Amino acid sequence: MKSEINSLEEYKREYEKSITAPEEFWAEKANNFVWRKKFGKVLEWNFDEPLNRWFIGGKLNITENCLDRHLEKKGDKTAFIWEPNNPTEKTINISYNELHKRVCRFANVLLNNGVKKGDRVCMYLPMIPELPVAMLACARIGAIHSVVYAGFSSGSLSTRILDTKAEIVITSDGAYRGSKTIPMKAIADEALLSCPNVKKVIVVKRTAENIKLNAGKDVWWHEEENKVNDTCQAAEMDAENILFVLYTSGSTGKPKGIAHSCASYMVYADYTFRNVFHCSQNDVYWCTADIGWITGHSYLVYGPLLSGITSVMFEGIPTFPDAGRWWEIVDKNKVNIFYTSPTAIRTLEALGSDPIKKYSLSSLKLLGTVGEPINSSAWEWYHKNIGKEKCFIVDTWWQTETGGIVISPLLNVSEQKPGYAMLPLPGIQLVIANAKGEEQKGNDVEGILCIKFPWPGMLRTVYGDHERCKKTYFSDFKGLYFSGDGCKRDKDGDYRITGRVDDVIKVSGHLLGTAEIENAINQHLAVVESAVVGYPHEIKGSAIGAFVATFKVPENSEKLKQEIIEQVGKAVGPIAKPEKLFFVHELPKTRSGKIVRRILKKILEGETENFGDISTLIDPFVIKELVKVVSSEKKFAKIGL
Ligand code: PRX
Repeated sequence: MKSEINSLEEYKREYEKSITAPEEFWAEKANNFVWRKKFGKVLEWNFDEPLNRWFIGGKLNITENCLDRHLEKKGDKTAFIWEPNNPTEKTINISYNELHKRVCRFANVLLNNGVKKGDRVCMYLPMIPELPVAMLACARIGAIHSVVYAGFSSGSLSTRILDTKAEIVITSDGAYRGSKTIPMKAIADEALLSCPNVKKVIVVKRTAENIKLNAGKDVWWHEEENKVNDTCQAAEMDAENILFVLYTSGSTGKPKGIAHSCASYMVYADYTFRNVFHCSQNDVYWCTADIGWITGHSYLVYGPLLSGITSVMFEGIPTFPDAGRWWEIVDKNKVNIFYTSPTAIRTLEALGSDPIKKYSLSSLKLLGTVGEPINSSAWEWYHKNIGKEKCFIVDTWWQTETGGIVISPLLNVSEQKPGYAMLPLPGIQLVIANAKGEEQKGNDVEGILCIKFPWPGMLRTVYGDHERCKKTYFSDFKGLYFSGDGCKRDKDGDYRITGRVDDVIKVSGHLLGTAEIENAINQHLAVVESAVVGYPHEIKGSAIGAFVATFKVPENSEKLKQEIIEQVGKAVGPIAKPEKLFFVHELPKTRSGKIVRRILKKILEGETENFGDISTLIDPFVIKELVKVVSSEKKFAKIGL
């Protein structure tokens, strides 16, 4: 189905209807899917428990909507173009017919191994076709998939397996990542030492390295497939059954298993995919996110398949064998729509424009970003070097908890403002609240981003801990979903995300968004990226500390510091000037690219050892450098204030 929103008038019409008659609005969208049994009431909700149920009484199977219904007309169409880590290895094209068969066959493998409706199946796999096949196979038989990002450590994996009480784990012997090989099975084995609940491990052969197969427990994927056929009747699922659980970091350090249900997640992933990305049936779409994150779930697997689109799935990293790899893939497959993250853009920006020069990138029509605020210099770089100033950029704001995109610029509807997520999608009733939870009406206001009415992609619960769901998202402000992000609605009514609320710093009574200050710092030509945190200050309450990564070691660091500080003063205001500024090689980041400001804050507060759970960091050794830099800076002079 095509997008409904192709002009400002259409946006206004859709939005208006979604607010005045939400049940009718979403029922219309839901009617475009294959249902085994039609739903009755569209929505039941309250934000106190919280309770959020959609398409009540409806029965369906999401895989019939992702696969079966396309087979008659588009069975031979490519669903996935799989690009391997190493460009000398063969690209694999998987048609909708083939994908259907592979999903059915693996669904039979799961059944054969005792998996039943409602069971949790944990996947710890690299970006290989077996990952979406396994997810869809779970959905086919009504099992709940829980994908754990392949870059996580054994400790993070076991925490997640234990939390879902999964009895079956799917992994691979190894994984290719750039020039490295990751021993997936060995890491999983280590995790499983503390997971006695796991009865079966299905292993995909990818790197063919030597691994240990535990007799009676570990089986090869390909051998299991030989035991079954490729016909599998889809299980009839209740609209409200859980489709998947996906973990996201929480402020307490224990990850939260965000649960999404079958029907309304499907309706929302589909609606947002179509209206934000505007893929036409012959387009090739590429979302670079790892399937271990929500972006990969909604916009690499479910969204594109529901639309019957051809997508690229890439196993490797953007800088292997060189920094032109992504652009080689774009040209080779004539990718039209490209969706990535600001961190990736900044990484490539830092490597300069030479790697791009030999590629035309002329197939690209629309670009997207997600996951963190995009600073204007990265936005401009993306726009100019990748989009050649002709591609519309969608800066999409959403969360694991929202299931799909919630705020985004829309093609032919909104103008482009770098760093702005712009408009709420239909169905989304945004509220900007002050610290007391009071709605800030009108334009030119700033505060905490909340949502006051349910939307179909909304989380159902935190798996196994509904109280935590209530406490985290529905307790700060009565009657509102609390996103945890700061937000500004400008004088034109457009939205800009200013960063996590916990990243908002109150300096001398003024609220300052870390994203805003970082944006100003990053505009300096010498800067790759930066992270700003607040730390306690005797007089001002909080002061600002900045950690700045530069393209090369500064020749005159004092001069550069002054320049950057002045730039912040100019861009945001004198109050926003960092009190402390440190040049560092790297910032502490999670594998999904988020800067862990909590650690920077602690370092600035004088902590040298206890940083809580650091298992999600790409490189925990970065902390050592940061501690050293900060503690050697005791004599740091006050600058510019
Ligand atoms: O702070 C916001 C940031 O990412 C958070 C959600 O993270 P996660 O659940 O991992 O999902 C990421 C992918 C959807 C948000 O609370 N975030 C996401 N998109 C944007 C963003 N911040 C600014 N601009 C965005 N476009």
